[in-house]
Amino acid sequence: MSTAVVDVSQGTDVRNNDTQCTVPDVEEYDFSRLPEKTRTLTIERQRSCDERSLSELSIGLSPHYSCRTTENFRITDHLENMYSPTRRSGMNTPISQNLFETHPMVAEAWEALRRSLVYFRGQPVGTIAALDHSEEALNYNQVFVRDFVPSALAFLMNGEPEIVKNFLLKTLRLQSWEKKIDRFKLGEGVMPASFKVLHDPVRNYETLIGDFGESAIGRVAPVDSGFWWIILLRAYTKSTGDSSLAERPECQKGMRLILTLCLSEGFDTFPTLLCADGCCMIDRRMGVYGYPIEIQALFFMALRCALLLLKQDDEGKEFVERIVKRLHALSYHMRSYFWIDFQQLNDIYRYKTEEYSHTAVNKFNVIPDSLPDWVFDFMPTRGGYFVGNVSPAKMDFRWFCLGNCVAIISSLATPEQSAAIMDLIEARWQELVGEMPLKVCYPAIESHEWRIVTGCDPKNTRWSYHNGGSWPVLLWLLIAACIKTGRPQIAKRAIDLAESRLLKDNWPEYYDGKLGRYVGKQARKFQTWSIAGYLVAKMMLEDPSHVGMICLEEDKQMKPLIKRSASWTC
Ligand code: GLC
Repeated sequence: MSTAVVDVSQGTDVRNNDTQCTVPDVEEYDFSRLPEKTRTLTIERQRSCDERSLSELSIGLSPHYSCRTTENFRITDHLENMYSPTRRSGMNTPISQNLFETHPMVAEAWEALRRSLVYFRGQPVGTIAALDHSEEALNYNQVFVRDFVPSALAFLMNGEPEIVKNFLLKTLRLQSWEKKIDRFKLGEGVMPASFKVLHDPVRNYETLIGDFGESAIGRVAPVDSGFWWIILLRAYTKSTGDSSLAERPECQKGMRLILTLCLSEGFDTFPTLLCADGCCMIDRRMGVYGYPIEIQALFFMALRCALLLLKQDDEGKEFVERIVKRLHALSYHMRSYFWIDFQQLNDIYRYKTEEYSHTAVNKFNVIPDSLPDWVFDFMPTRGGYFVGNVSPAKMDFRWFCLGNCVAIISSLATPEQSAAIMDLIEARWQELVGEMPLKVCYPAIESHEWRIVTGCDPKNTRWSYHNGGSWPVLLWLLIAACIKTGRPQIAKRAIDLAESRLLKDNWPEYYDGKLGRYVGKQARKFQTWSIAGYLVAKMMLEDPSHVGMICLEEDKQMKPLIKRSASWTC
């Protein structure tokens, strides 16, 4: 049996020192001119409010913001600036004129994004999921919380924070509803998956109606909505420098209610969050029930954001302590048990089973025979990723894009793990990116397995939709990860692919096929998050300091150096 030490960096392909680059090595700010070969930017900076270490939580919470106005700045400036309020960007900034040629698609995308705006009593409160009149609307005419995130980031990056503030406050009001499905009352903190504006023509009066899963296909409440809400509140605060919104009693209460739902004690033996199938971006039965990576990564990120936003008053203090403890346990669990690379795969392949006691190495009793054939070919010598799910005797080895990208931007992944994830994307470009960024998961499930896992779902046939389909919205997450890990070439290749098709195909929701070459079978056109995702990707490349509103730096306090066999006692 191989080593039981959990210093996760040992299992990964730690890159050579000669490929690393410290900030002063890079002369000019020009992301596109960074050397082709991948490298890690070692960032030594003044610590900002966002970097409050977990051990320093007794210190006051009010953020300190500094504002820079210099237009032409070097990469050193940009990195120092990563955590300061955003300057106006988008279509009109001098930066885009000087350093980047604005693609004609950008203007088209802005127009399409503005057409998708939803108004409530005269104020913009969100964006509709898709503006496609050729298909049945179903609930695509609603404002989805998760879908609004890239729209919100685009508006924040463009210096238009009002709509984001309105959205945050309106969804908060919906959270305070009493939510009942049949005779069952949902937890107080649940945030809606989506909402719509109802217009009463008689009274000439508008109301907001939320959907908490009671109308959704499958009737599952969204676990991700509350996490995205907290993440967006932090992005708003970071971007505007306005902490008064987050400090409002109703926002503090909203956060506490979300946290109450996921920090409550129960029968769990793991710090991860147990979920039903379909409770996140993949909102249909796809075998992601249990402990899906998407939710665990968002959970981690939301906890870290909440830590930055929660006031340490009488009510907040207790939450802060609970968050800190959970973050330690969660990062340990994820980095140790969800992480896989060549070495780890080889170790699992050779696992003993039926181990009893605290010293067991194969803690979840994973039977090596259950390892799918494809994973042995898929795993490159250099690279690694967080697997889809880990629960008793079950490891879902599928690659899920959103969870892995959020793991990078939230620093759930260690720097070594982040670099390894990017290495994997490079090494498996055909499979994970193909002709349209990016595969929501890999590989697709087929035949008998598809019947069992999806329940014969005709929308989720192999290499379509949630089952190995390619979703342009994921581009913004990849680009954020590229910027954080210093991989400009990956970013450029992905953007080039998107630009060759997206506008021409009218911004589809998803693409089908092994390479993502075909517009998805039932894909909506003018899907707002495909449009906004592209804009956010472009704006971050144009001005990488924007990444600061959605990225969190590593907290050194969470570095795992504990022996795996000792985890029960630590
Ligand atoms: C689909 C997606 C979901 C998205 C919704 C609206 O149901 O699976 O993630 O929020 O469409 O676009």
